[in-house]
Amino acid sequence: MNDPVAHWHAEHVYFGQLLKLLRKEIDVFHSGSDPNYPLMLDIIAYLRDYSDRVHHPREDVAFDRLAKHCPDLQIVLSRLQQEHRVIARAGANLHERLDAILAGEVIAREDVEADAATFLVYYESHMAKEESEVLARAAKHLTAEDWQAVREHGQGVADPLFGSEAHERFRELRRQIAREA
Ligand SMILES: [Fe+2]
Ligand SMILES: [Fe+2]
Repeated sequence: MNDPVAHWHAEHVYFGQLLKLLRKEIDVFHSGSDPNYPLMLDIIAYLRDYSDRVHHPREDVAFDRLAKHCPDLQIVLSRLQQEHRVIARAGANLHERLDAILAGEVIAREDVEADAATFLVYYESHMAKEESEVLARAAKHLTAEDWQAVREHGQGVADPLFGSEAHERFRELRRQIAREA
């Protein structure tokens, strides 16, 4: 993480790729065909494992620090922190719903679509807001000490998908991303 803002942005690009893949599968579902459920579950599992546990907690620290340097951003930053909780909840709901389908339960199509739409729309607009309103300000105002505090969160947790060695369970997802690129 030599350039923390470049790293931050790169993670958003990765997450954006995953959301695009997820959206494609939801479109398949919407058309009445069977989507690739394991792939969808892998995407959500990754986002819950890595983004909810590492990316968002790091941002929460960065946002707290940035709010002290830039009081004009306080409201935006606290909304973004609140959205981290909404995204985690929406991801859990969608994961549960897809799991239930795979377990053979009959689930109303519109319930799955509503959960998926909440998750996708929230996530995409959340990242867009961070990109447009926060990253450049963070690059300008956060100090070396602030970045150190950010780094301390999730230290030693390797990215299981985009890191140098993908975990076994995400191999197929990684192949799929490479195919799309
Ligand atoms: Fe965020
Ligand atoms: Fe983010």
